[in-house]
Amino acid sequence: MDDQKPAGAAASMNVNGKALNLPVLKGTMGPDVVDIRKLYGEADVFTYDPGFTSTAACESAITFIDGDKGQLLHRGYPIEQLAEKSTFLEVCHLLLHGELPTAAEYAKFERNVTYHTMLHDQFDKFFGGFRRDAHPMAIMVGAVGALAAFYHDSLDIHDEEQREISAIRLIAKMPTIAARAFKYSMGQPFVHPRNELSYAENFLRMCFAVPAEDYVANPVLTRAMDRIFILHADHEQNASTSTVRLAGSSGANPFACIAAGIACLWGPAHGGANEEALNMLKEIGTPDRIPEFVAGVKDRKYRLMGFGHRVYKNFDPRAKVLKQSADEVLAAIGDPNDPLLQVARELETVALNDPYFIERKLYPNVDFYSGIILSAMGFPTSMFTVLFALARTVGWVAQWKEMIADPSQKIGRPRQLYTGPTQRDYVPVEARG
Ligand code: CMC
Repeated sequence: MDDQKPAGAAASMNVNGKALNLPVLKGTMGPDVVDIRKLYGEADVFTYDPGFTSTAACESAITFIDGDKGQLLHRGYPIEQLAEKSTFLEVCHLLLHGELPTAAEYAKFERNVTYHTMLHDQFDKFFGGFRRDAHPMAIMVGAVGALAAFYHDSLDIHDEEQREISAIRLIAKMPTIAARAFKYSMGQPFVHPRNELSYAENFLRMCFAVPAEDYVANPVLTRAMDRIFILHADHEQNASTSTVRLAGSSGANPFACIAAGIACLWGPAHGGANEEALNMLKEIGTPDRIPEFVAGVKDRKYRLMGFGHRVYKNFDPRAKVLKQSADEVLAAIGDPNDPLLQVARELETVALNDPYFIERKLYPNVDFYSGIILSAMGFPTSMFTVLFALARTVGWVAQWKEMIADPSQKIGRPRQLYTGPTQRDYVPVEARG
């Protein structure tokens, strides 16, 4: 990792009467970091940062976010340009390999992903073990972890070629698994992938075709789907990505690591927010109920789902792009009088003009608009986080690969501020008061 250089200056600290000089490292963009790796050894103290609000847990050259500017770059390229001009598979290549592919590289990459979209025939039997009413995210956690039981030939994490095959397998098979989770919940037969279709088109067809009638996707929907995938592809060291890195730091296989990431993504403060955001709009029901709902938010009874972000405190650049996509999709297939849409638009206006939300820098995030688009496309809310997981897989895999290739990588092992009892002796049950 060549880009990391000492910033020249050192941070000085005085701990327990001991003066320390800690190196300050400089990245290519973003805040410098104080290197505290020797702190415990030299001063016998830990740092304390629950929620990692001031902690850089790793070095990475994949994604850069400046939350104040509303800037998101993948390998240096602004997300707005990628969403406008690129395709999801091109972005996958960029995230995994560091550069946009040449035409020949793109053709090879696309062929490679397409070639791996099918699942082992035995894998399909796995779905039948779930209840029909299982949440599709529960199926995703189990099914993706189970890939490790089927693809033994790409589990050696120390073999670069096997790591690459696993990466391609995950990106290629996620749409097939996600579509099967959807079909299973509806009691419909599985639809197999078709190699002549694009990544997004193929996924939509596997979700919406039935044996009695094929599905030909509206190009506006295909483009919106691809864009949703691009906008969710990676997001620096968020909770699920950090989970993948932590799981991977022990040497666990990539399928297990991605299953761990999916589990973390499921939570309502993270990827589960898109499902919660739409449920919230449904619960509000009509625009006249918005003031009552907003009052409840201010009374801290609940949060406005799809609003706020740990890093973006100005606007979420992904939300800006998705708002445009939402308009396009709804113009193509939506009902302009859809009450859900009216509630969403009105809620957005109310929140953006209310001092409570302005003071706390709460803006619509990516999950606010993605739910509206996915709902118009025909996906039930329970599938929203699944689609997020599908798209984020490439980011997780790229970050996992980067970590494994980093010679300074070691098992992640945070420490703690212990506040429990001090040592005491065991008391036999008959002597306990
Ligand atoms: N609705 C109402 N109030 C909020 C919200 C919200 N959505 N988010 C934050 N606040 C308030 C919070 O009550 C606090 O107020 P005060 O200072 O008066 O105590 C202040 O804003 C700061 O909140 P925080 O919890 O310290 O902020 P955070 O950076 O830890 O939380 C967040 C970030 C995304 C977890 C949070 O904004 C949230 O819960 N949002 C709703 C869930 C959501 O939409 N998540 C998707 C995030 S984007 C996609 C992804 O990452 O998966």
